[in-house]
Amino acid sequence: MPVRTPLMTLLGIEHPVIQAPMAGGGDTPAMVAAVAEAGGIGFVGAQYLALDRIGEAARTIRSRTNRAFGVNLFAPQPAPRVPDDLRPALDRVAPFFAELGLEPPEAPTAPADGFEDRLEAVLETGASVLSFTLGLLPDSAVQAAKARGMTVIGTATTVDEAVALERSGVDAIVAQGGEAGGHRGTFLGDLESGVVGTMALVPQVIDAVSAPVIASGGIMDGRGIAAALVLGAQAVQMGTAFLTCAEAGVPEAYKAAILGAAEHRTRVTRAFSGRPARGIVNRFMDDVESGAGPDGILDFPLQNGLTRPMRTAAGQQGKAEYLSLWAGQGVRLARRTTASELMAALAAETEAALARAGCG
Ligand SMILES: Cc1cc2nc3c(=O)[nH]c(=O)nc-3n(C[C@H](O)[C@H](O)[C@H](O)COP(=O)(O)O)c2cc1C
Repeated sequence: MPVRTPLMTLLGIEHPVIQAPMAGGGDTPAMVAAVAEAGGIGFVGAQYLALDRIGEAARTIRSRTNRAFGVNLFAPQPAPRVPDDLRPALDRVAPFFAELGLEPPEAPTAPADGFEDRLEAVLETGASVLSFTLGLLPDSAVQAAKARGMTVIGTATTVDEAVALERSGVDAIVAQGGEAGGHRGTFLGDLESGVVGTMALVPQVIDAVSAPVIASGGIMDGRGIAAALVLGAQAVQMGTAFLTCAEAGVPEAYKAAILGAAEHRTRVTRAFSGRPARGIVNRFMDDVESGAGPDGILDFPLQNGLTRPMRTAAGQQGKAEYLSLWAGQGVRLARRTTASELMAALAAETEAALARAGCG
């Protein structure tokens, strides 16, 4: 029997599958449109896009599908701490710049947060959902999105965060388990401690809030989707599984690293961006983390700006040892496919898994 949950009706989708926003290029308009056409909903991670590129991405999606899509932002962030001396952080990454034939790294400056302008651009896209991570949105932003008829979805990594999000007026909550690839959404308490597994987090969040809950983190196939639904989630949000699709806009070296990775070879690190994020362990991660003093790794987004030229060059040169290989712990289940084939496989696998469990 096909799965149907109230959140699926709200989002206008036929399968309980959300393609995660993947800021940095993973989530191309081609992927978002393919997921929509296949009955799920895809998100554009708009945090790192220039303002005019946000509208452009939305128009490209619209030229390919009339179905719903979403856009995702980071919540406004506090200004980063800037150490008096940037040398320790620059010195740590300099050898990697040299190995790639780049000029020595330059001291990064903190860009203006730019949340209001970014939100304005997102509100103009015609997207039907606004999701966000790394915090709470200002009341005015939630209201502005809702006034446009958008569904608003926040990200929690603990029960306390889910309760705070519900109080802020969101329509649904992504429960992001510790297995998840990419940045941890943690915003209450110690940034390093919100690494609760999906299996433990989802039911505890469901018990604490009345908003629909979306399970995320380590879900790669229909077995994971079925398990999340049985826990009471109303949909799943999957990132890593979509990164090895043909439509994903990441370098081939990144896709190959995921397809060759194992479950115990990912780690949460600050080395690339200054904020904890889970990725496949590589030499850059190991070297920059090891013995880094308090100023060895800058705060987000300074560290992100510092390492950007290196990551861009590494992508062009096909060198995975210098890329931020964001990926979740389910890497061994990744497959080389297309977004529409993946969606079809996920639907069939979910039905089969639910039937096996006697829930079909
Ligand atoms: C490459 C990558 C980039 C991501 N970027 C974002 C983002 O911009 N916004 C966001 O809310 N979540 C982002 N995430 C996290 C996902 O929303 C989701 O929590 C995660 O992918 C789930 O774990 P999985 O990768 O094991 O499926 C990203 C994840 C990955 C792998």
